[in-house]
Order: sequence, then C-alpha cells, then structure tokens
Amino acid sequence: MTRRTSWAEPWKIKVVESIKMTTREQREVAIRDAGYNTFLLKSEDCYIDLLTDSGTNAMSDNQWAGMMLGDEAYAGSRNFYALESAVQTYYGYEYLIPTHQGRGAENILSKILIKDGDYVPGNMYFTTTRLHQELAGGTFRDVIIDEAHDPASEHPFKGNVDLDKVKALVAEVGADRIAYITIGVTVNLAGGQPVSMANLREVSTYCHDTGITVILDATRAVENAWFIQQREKGYGDKSVAQILRAMCDLTDGATMSGKKDSLVNIGGWLAVRDRKVAEQAQNLVVVYEGLHTYGGMAGRDMEAMARGIVESVQDDHMRSRIGQVQYLGQKLIDAGVPVVHPIGGHAVFLDAAAILPHIPRDKFPAQALAAALYVESGIRSMERGAVSAGRDAKTGENRYPKLELVRLTIPRRVYTQAHMDVTAESVMEVFDHRDKVRGLEFLYEPEYLRFFQARFGTVGGDGIFA
Ligand code: F0G
Repeated sequence: MTRRTSWAEPWKIKVVESIKMTTREQREVAIRDAGYNTFLLKSEDCYIDLLTDSGTNAMSDNQWAGMMLGDEAYAGSRNFYALESAVQTYYGYEYLIPTHQGRGAENILSKILIKDGDYVPGNMYFTTTRLHQELAGGTFRDVIIDEAHDPASEHPFKGNVDLDKVKALVAEVGADRIAYITIGVTVNLAGGQPVSMANLREVSTYCHDTGITVILDATRAVENAWFIQQREKGYGDKSVAQILRAMCDLTDGATMSGKKDSLVNIGGWLAVRDRKVAEQAQNLVVVYEGLHTYGGMAGRDMEAMARGIVESVQDDHMRSRIGQVQYLGQKLIDAGVPVVHPIGGHAVFLDAAAILPHIPRDKFPAQALAAALYVESGIRSMERGAVSAGRDAKTGENRYPKLELVRLTIPRRVYTQAHMDVTAESVMEVFDHRDKVRGLEFLYEPEYLRFFQARFGTVGGDGIFA
C-alpha cells in the first residue's frame, strides 16, 4: 500500500464565494490609491487574499448551525458556558475571560500584571502584544534563539526560547522586575516557527523556580502541537489534542486570538489558573470589552468558537491545513525563491531583503515587494519587516529587525491547491523582474501600529515597477 502518498482535505465544499481578477492597469491605480499599503486595498480588488489568516477562515456547517443557537442574553449566555467548557477541556485553564479578539486579552493581561518599569521577555515580539506591554509601562526583551533571526537556518524549533537570555535578564534587572514571560507558539514574525515541548518545559521549570509567571500566546498553539507531533522525539504517537494540553499544562495562563486556530471570524480570550488574576480580569473586561460572560462577542460567535476549537484539534484537519502551507512553500523553494526556512505553520515568508538587495532598508523592501506582487497578480500579502516593527518607544528611531519579510498567509479551509499553484507562479514572475521594483518612502505615518494605516510613495519615479 505505498501508491497513495497524497493527503486530501477532510471536508468537501458546500458554499462558494466568487473572486474577481482585475487588470494590471486597475491594480496599478488601486495600489497607488492605497498608498502602496496592502492593508488599504479594497478586498474586492484582491484576487487571492493572503493578507492574513486572522478571521479569514471558512466555518463548517456545524459551526454555522451553532450560529443559529446563539443565546444573545446580556448575561450568562449558554454559549459562554460552551466556550468555557471547550477551553477547559482542550487548553486546560480554569478561568476563561472572553474578549473581542486577541489584543483585547493582551490589553487586560498587560494592565493587570505589568507595573511601570517592569520587563516582559518574549520569544520575538508581536506587534499588538508588545504595544500593550509598552502602553502598560513595560519594556519588551527578545529572548528567542539566534537561529530565529536567520531565514536560512533549518532549526526544527526556531521559535524556542534561549534560556540563557532569560537568565541574563534576571541577572540584570532581578526576577521581581519581570512581570511575566510571553511564549508565542508558533512564532508569527519568525515565520510561523514552532517551540518544542522540551524547550517549553525547560523554560517553564526555570521560570517557576524563579517566581516568573509563564503566559502562552496560544493564538496558533494547535499548529505548534502539530509540529511537535511531526518533529519531536516521543510525540509521534500522541494526538494533536494531547500535545496541546501538555503544552498548556506548563504555563500559568494564555492570551488567544480565536481568529486563527479556532476557525472563526472574530473572538478571543484570556485564560488563567490564578483566581485572583481571574477576578481582576473579570473586572477589567467589563471596562474595555463587555460583561465577563461575553467580552465583546455575540453569543453566536462564542458558539462558533466553541465548535471551532473541537474541529481545530483534529489531526486530519491540521495535516491538511499545514500541508497546504508546506505545498506552497516547497514550490517556491524548488523555484529558487528566497523564503524563510523551514516553512512555518500559517504562512510562507518571502525573504524580501534577499530578493530586493538593491532597495535599502529605509526604503522598505518588503513593503515594496508586497505592492509589486499585488500589481503583478492581484495577490494580496503583508509586509513583516521594518514597517511592522515601528519605532523604538524611547528613541523614536526606526527599528530594523533582522528579518525583512513578506508574508503569504493562508486562511484555513478557504483556498485550493490550484490557488497555491497560481500564487507560486505569480511570486516567480515578480522574482524574475525583481531588479525593476522601486523602494518606498512614507507619506503618512500613524503613531501606533503604523503598518496598518501608513501611506507611501515610490522612490525614483511613478509606479512600483521601473
Ligand atoms: N498574537 C499573535 C501571535 C497574533 O498573530 C495576533 C494577530 C495577535 C496576538 C493579536 O490578535 O488580531 O485577534 O487582536 N495576528 C494577526 C496577523 C493580526 O495577521 O498575524 P488579534
């Protein structure tokens, strides 16, 4: 029985949504009007939309059926209890505080645990996470292993925490100045790279011995569990659900954007084991999100998420979800396009610094590459480089992270393998004309999370291609 080596999606399609191809001329106008920022494009002007995997998932018939069972009571909705039970079962945390999405949870957690002047180590920054930590008076410190900053490194767990960096921070500032450590699984900005169970255990043991709280950014934790199953010795015969639970068991709480792993379009949560922290969070959520039994979500949204959590931890779902990302990545690797290695869980990351060496960092090669790909093909991607990194909170200088990337993010259960083929060919087409791509400069730069709303103009002439 060796002929059958392919996998197929564990579902069939019941409803479809039309997408439309535009002309190159239309796209040139659209991207200029959008200030060369793919976030400012209209969705209907995008052919294959790989901007993000956040809230862009297709729900199942079972989730849609659950939407009809929304209990829209202001307080004590039965869907809250369904969600609470799903989180307790699959993630294992005792107290659940729902929020409208991940950053709502980050805001509340940061306000509770961070005192002015505290430090918050984490395995690479995430945009909203770090901003909430800074707004709460904290300073973020990157404690990810050095390999994470090298796009070519094939380290199987590039998201791992470098425990020596954590120890050095403890020696420098003292454990009592460390509010908590955030461990992102997988690490979005490193390329969707996983953290190993061994690393999580080692970090958790050290932090707990030292009195440091361990918070998981569980946004893509199920994808991380799949990588542990595939790559880490001793986990090959464990289910994704078992591994997820074992990961969470090593931590004290989690923030979650349900818009990714949980196969929904909106929603998030904060979950903790400590009753006192839970009480503070239940109190603060009322100020910023909504009552503690809905936290900004409709009853139907909570039901869809509860059902999505169960679907998300099925091994065959994860195999096809990540299998599709790997399929696209392998095509680009085979074509010689520089990408982040190994291919991550939710996206393929193009190495814009390597593809466009003629564009200096302060002319934002990744932003330019995303614009060029759109003009070439109608495919929408996202910059994950210096524009996303923003300015240093203290000096106001541009931050230049080692990675200057364009993310081709794959929504869950939305596109077919044929869309991946077209995407790969489109990237190759831009790659062939890479020396013609122009750099960009800011025309408008918002103060917070500038990548969402910034506008740019091309350098050295009109149009993204010379
Ligand atoms: N943490 C991680 C690792 C994320 O990727 C995101 C969102 C958040 C937290 C915040 O969650 O959007 O629900 O408020 N990432 C999206 C993305 C925006 O496109 O990567 P949110």
